[in-house]
Order: sequence, then C-alpha cells, then structure tokens
Amino acid sequence: MVSFDIAGKRAIVTGAAQGLGQGVAEGYLEAGATVCLFDVNPKVEEVAAEYAAQGYKACAVVADVRDDTARAEAFTKAVEKLGGLDILVTAAGVQRRYPSTEFPIEEWDFVMDINLRAVFSLNQAAANQFIAQGGGGKIINFASMLTFFGGYTVPAYAASKGGVAQLTKAFGNEWASMGINVNAVAPGYMATDMNTALLDQSNPRYKEITDRIPAHRWGTPDDMKGVTIFLASQASDYLSGAIIPIDGGYLSR
Ligand SMILES: NC(=O)c1ccc[n+]([C@@H]2O[C@H](COP(=O)([O-])OP(=O)(O)OC[C@H]3O[C@@H](n4cnc5c(N)ncnc54)[C@H](O)[C@@H]3O)[C@@H](O)[C@H]2O)c1
Repeated sequence: MVSFDIAGKRAIVTGAAQGLGQGVAEGYLEAGATVCLFDVNPKVEEVAAEYAAQGYKACAVVADVRDDTARAEAFTKAVEKLGGLDILVTAAGVQRRYPSTEFPIEEWDFVMDINLRAVFSLNQAAANQFIAQGGGGKIINFASMLTFFGGYTVPAYAASKGGVAQLTKAFGNEWASMGINVNAVAPGYMATDMNTALLDQSNPRYKEITDRIPAHRWGTPDDMKGVTIFLASQASDYLSGAIIPIDGGYLSR
C-alpha cells in the first residue's frame, strides 16, 4: 500500500524561523518527523524550543545560508543532531524590489546568493549525504509564481526562482536513479512578512492579486503542509523535477 507516512524521518528545513518554512517544519513535526529548523534569525532557537516543549522532535541551527563556511558547518551540525538525513527543504529566501533601471547590482547578488547559490550548495550537500547513507532521500526546493511570470520590479527574484526550477530539474535528472527525488513547490500569493508591501490594502496590487486568485484568499503557512508531506513521503517516489503550484488556482487563470 502506498505510504504518506514520514514518522521517524529526519528533515532539515531552511528558513524555518517563520512563514512558509515554519509551516513546512510544523507539518513534518505533526506528522512525526524529527526536524532541524535552520535560519539566520536566532529566534529559530526559540521556535524549535517551543515545538520541543510540546513534545515534538525539533532542534535548531543558526546560520546565514549566504556564508559558504557558516552554511556548510550548520548543515554538518544539523545532520549530526539528526543522526542522518532523509529530507531537505530549502525555504530560506529573500525579496528585493526596485525599478529594473535602478536595481543595484549588490542587491542582485544578495538575492541570487540566498535564493539560488545556497540552494545549489545545500542540494549538493544533501545528495552527498544521501549517497553516503546508501541512496534514497527527498529534496524539496522553493520556486514561486515568479518562476513562471516575470513580475514587476523584482528581476533578481524572478531570475533566482526561474533558476530554482531549472536546478530542480537538473539535479532530479542526475539523482533520480539513486532514489533521490528532487522536486519544488511554487507557492502562490501567501500572507507572510515577505509580502508586507503587497498586503497593504491601500496598494492597488492587493485587490488585483486577490481578485485573480480562484480560491479568493491568500495562502498561509498551513497551506504548505499537505503537499510538502507528500513530497517527503514514499508516495512521491516516482516524481522527479516537478514544480508543484500551491496557489489557490492562480496559475490556471
Ligand atoms: N510569501 C509568498 O507569497 C511566497 C511565494 C512564493 C515563494 N515564496 C518563497 O517561500 C520561501 C519562504 O518565504 P516566506 O514568505 O515564508 O518569507 P519570510 O520572509 O516570512 O521567511 C523567510 C525565512 O528565511 C529566512 N532567511 C532569509 N535569509 C536567510 C539567510 N541568508 N540564511 C538563512 N535563513 C534566511 C528568514 O530569516 C525567514 O525566517 C522563500 O523562498 C520565498 O521566496 C514565498
């Protein structure tokens, strides 16, 4: 019988101090997995401690995924804490908005380093860990609606999220034969801190976006749970290089 059970699995979730990454981590904890929450924000330690106090198997590592040394050390520390690794979720991400004519190159680097370069490196580290364990493992990357659309004033974000989809396919191709599934979720418009500017109801984009969502509401961290559990479970063993929208139907319009 097909299994969606991830109880006992060991997961690293980056960007788990808040927002969608926290939603994924919480879903995994509720499903009985052990989760190491990885974030640059030290509040991730409190978040993990609160889950642990509720009886969930949660721990934390604090590091900036943009820093090569810190990222690699934190990954190793997380694997040690977990006693191995079955699932990697790369939810850490950032947004920067400027008219494209004025977009500073430093901000381009900032967005690309966090949203794409660190994802490349962490996927590689996870695959090497899975191979050292004998193969098998799940990687879930974070794409976006801006994987499919160009957007306005967010050229670095759009380029980085387009890159995440291509990277997901490229890695999936090389690693599927070793039982490593690399897939991505593409959240739609979600009510998190990243969208504070768009969620301002005096911003005309707020109404425009909300009217376009067939589900007629913005998504929440809880909306991430079902699909990411599926992608971490045996039920998705034959899925590779897929980019799955979690968007209330936005892309279908
Ligand atoms: N909110 C949306 O509508 C939306 C839509 C599509 C995709 N996404 C993607 O989902 C992911 C999560 O976004 P969110 O909306 O929850 O945003 P958020 O800002 O609420 O959370 C992002 C988390 O990533 C962490 N982070 C940022 N830079 C980091 C770094 N250098 N090292 C380690 N951690 C870092 C932050 O501290 C934070 O906890 C991102 O990859 C984002 O691009 C969000």
